[in-house]
Amino acid sequence: MNNLMKKKNNQESSSPSSDSCLSKYKKVYDLSLENPEAFWAERAETLVSWARKWDEVLQGDFNRREVSWFSGGRLNVSSNCLDRHLEKGCRNQAALIWQGENDDEVKVYTYQMLLTETCRFANVLKDKGIKKGDCVSIYLPMIPELVIAMLACARIGAVHSVIFCGFSSTALKNRIKDCGSKVFVTADTVARGGRIIPLKPNADGPLDECQSIRNCIVVRRSEKEISMVPGRDSWWHEEMAREGIGRYCEPVEMDAGDTLFMLYTSGSTGKPKGVLHSCGGYLTYVLHTCRTVFHFSENDIHWCTADIGWITGHSYSVYGPLGAGATILIYEGLPLYPEPDRYWRIVEKFGVTVLYTAPAAIRALMHFGAGLAGRYDLSSLRFLGSVGEPINPGEWNWYFKEIGHSKLPVIDTWWQTETGGIMLAPLVHPELCGPGGCSRPLPGIDAAVFTESGRETVPGESGRLVIRKPWPGMLKAVLGDGGRVQKMYFSSYPGVYDTGDSARRSGENVFQITGRLDDVIIISGHRLGTAEIESVLTAHRSVAEAAVVGIADSLKGQKIYAFVTVGKNVEQTPGLLGELRQYVQETIGPIATHSTIQYVSALPKTRSGKIMRRLLRKIASNDFHHFGDISTLADPSVITDLIEGKKRSS
Ligand code: WTA
Repeated sequence: MNNLMKKKNNQESSSPSSDSCLSKYKKVYDLSLENPEAFWAERAETLVSWARKWDEVLQGDFNRREVSWFSGGRLNVSSNCLDRHLEKGCRNQAALIWQGENDDEVKVYTYQMLLTETCRFANVLKDKGIKKGDCVSIYLPMIPELVIAMLACARIGAVHSVIFCGFSSTALKNRIKDCGSKVFVTADTVARGGRIIPLKPNADGPLDECQSIRNCIVVRRSEKEISMVPGRDSWWHEEMAREGIGRYCEPVEMDAGDTLFMLYTSGSTGKPKGVLHSCGGYLTYVLHTCRTVFHFSENDIHWCTADIGWITGHSYSVYGPLGAGATILIYEGLPLYPEPDRYWRIVEKFGVTVLYTAPAAIRALMHFGAGLAGRYDLSSLRFLGSVGEPINPGEWNWYFKEIGHSKLPVIDTWWQTETGGIMLAPLVHPELCGPGGCSRPLPGIDAAVFTESGRETVPGESGRLVIRKPWPGMLKAVLGDGGRVQKMYFSSYPGVYDTGDSARRSGENVFQITGRLDDVIIISGHRLGTAEIESVLTAHRSVAEAAVVGIADSLKGQKIYAFVTVGKNVEQTPGLLGELRQYVQETIGPIATHSTIQYVSALPKTRSGKIMRRLLRKIASNDFHHFGDISTLADPSVITDLIEGKKRSS
């Protein structure tokens, strides 16, 4: 246990008010695990409006790996996010505030307006033949049309698959190829740091290869000319104009277990996996987390800075806060543009109450904009959240002092695409928490830390973070499953969900997350699979083999370090390294910038042909000692070559 955790535990047990807060949490938590079905039934009843109540709260368990929530229940998620607030008299309340990259570009949609626009686009989709269960891929920047398109899909029961618009050609192709989307929604361009960057042209190649896509609807964001394929491509504003504004779109009643959306995320294979989330379980769970962690009310202006192309944006820019009837703020641009005070200008301008961001953004703001926050009135803020990667003490302290003026607690939340919503957060006396040391499982979440052999760790001992009981926000399936869920999440320990993260737990059930245990790297809070980058590199004509690891980076958290062997007769020139770096950036997207690539004559492989990645991780991080057991290495002499190459390239 680190010192901070010790300090927290002492503080928690010494103050009477923290005692009562802790015992209240413990009581709710213990009850939730003693009778999970009663607990989740109460949550679903209180937080969600159902068209038909469920027959059974939970069917199945982790041992059979067939889990379904609220079966028999029927609901529509868009009507939970829109119509029900209108019924409560909130029609004029702001649902969505959009701040464009230009300061004077602002749009506000009331709940009524958001419903109207959602119905219009839902009708456009229906006119294109989209029905319940069809898939719609959405590749849009942070503009209101993105939220409207998602809610429109939810309204008619179509499954949306949002793709982060920072991905380009190959990464985009991997994310639309196998999901059978019929409609693709994109924008002509994207505003980034004062420049207008083409967006649709990234999709033209992948779209031509993707036979299932019949229509591509394009939002006009600039005056730039782009090519449109007659018969397939059309403009959003023309489609909406044809629709008029009057036609209400009846929400389609969905089974609780029907799919609400699909989101591709990185795992340990070259292909990103399409994680599916259900309507009833997912909505119940995100609303439970909004209530438990954020304590939302209708007066909140909630700003989650994550791009909606990632799960954080799905759950905490769209479905959670809109389901809870709060106001969401969406910002189109970059944190440092035009000046590094941009975030604080936005907080003051709109009176943001909840700021939910990532350590990567905090690092950038600290680095480039120290002292700037003090020029703004940030007194509207009541909550400072963090997500995506461990927040280190420097970042935590800066966020706490500079932004929270040492009054607002910093809430570090841990979760994953697969979990649907926040799983661990400092729920008890967060004001006593320090960086990374005081996360507790939310009520209903049976978290534990296991050793590799499946024994529960003793307090302070590191191991794998696992979840022992099903929860409603858990992924419903993985696209084209074929046993993938079983293999990916349940093969480490029978009947237990393996998160792939390492953690320590104190005697007080306080968790500290220490990082990923698999081949996933997190760059600026964005999850990328090393295998996906490797498959891009090996597709280059000069590369024979590639192995990618993540190394620490002071700004991005982690960055890409690749070891490559080149093909026969290919010269190992510095020019080729530059070309490969450029190629990775172009084919994956701007998040894959600043990678380092090193030539090697051979990769370190075990006798069974597996690449020994832990060795590569150490060498990439300039740690040339303590390689551990290397007896299975087929040719130990490669180590010298790797180290010398690393020293030369440093
Ligand atoms: C990491 C993002 C430490 C973790 C919501 C997890 C974190 C992966 C934290 C999921 C945190 C997320 N502290 N690590 N507070 N939050 N992670 O699917 O490794 O994009 O498994 O979901 O991010 O990334 P994903």
